[in-house]
Amino acid sequence: MITIKNSREIEIMREGGRILATVLKKVVKAAKPGISTKELDLLAEKLIRQLGGEPAFLGYQSHFEGDPYPASICTSVNEEVVHTIPSANRILKKGDIIGIDAGVRYKGFCTDMARTVGIGGIYSEKEKLIQVTKKALSLGIKKVKAGRHTGDIGAAIQKYVEQQGFSVVTQLVGHGIGKNVHEEPRIPNFGEPHTGTELKEGMTIAIEPMVNIGGSEVKTASDGWKIVTNDNSLSAHFEDTVAVTKKGFEILTQV
Ligand code: MF3
Ligand code: CO
Repeated sequence: MITIKNSREIEIMREGGRILATVLKKVVKAAKPGISTKELDLLAEKLIRQLGGEPAFLGYQSHFEGDPYPASICTSVNEEVVHTIPSANRILKKGDIIGIDAGVRYKGFCTDMARTVGIGGIYSEKEKLIQVTKKALSLGIKKVKAGRHTGDIGAAIQKYVEQQGFSVVTQLVGHGIGKNVHEEPRIPNFGEPHTGTELKEGMTIAIEPMVNIGGSEVKTASDGWKIVTNDNSLSAHFEDTVAVTKKGFEILTQV
């Protein structure tokens, strides 16, 4: 079901998104060589609660099967694409890249956001991957407007990423968001303009390109959560929660 939010609900999501962006900024800053991804998770949970939100991912039950998600953020390092559970044993080191994905529930509404950053100094191909993924998100967001279609977003992202010599993950997609983290419609990072679901004023969507240096294929690891690239190539992920407006878009996950 696609839900349309009224201006009061958008205002709540704007506030929740501000909390989320504030927290993610601090967690990204804390991602230095020597810190464990579990420490980043605990920091995120503490900050989210301090600011009056709840971690939206904690206890998230996938529609299909398995255990609920046991942490407040996902910390996907290098060839890990998304949904990696933080661990005290995963110590970040110089040259790693990490995608940090977090969700906040505030007054009953969710927002979802991710950023990928390098740890210490990183060489130019990794930096290019990060910059291309970031720009892909921004190009996707710029397509958002009432009357456009989800395929307009996906096509813009895919075209740019492939021009840059990388590939988009097609097995996973962005999504509508509201009272639940995942709602209709699907927001693919690929496709054709003028196809898919028509965007309407008041829809709120999470756009989240996942970009691989190598092939686009990914697989689920044995823990049932972590997604990794099939060919072990590096992957980056950026995500924002965006409201569809008559004139265009409003990014809700910003400070
Ligand atoms: N941003 C992630 C996504 O849209 C949120 C995952 S919720 C989790 O897939 F519980 F699986 F972490
Ligand atoms: Co998401």
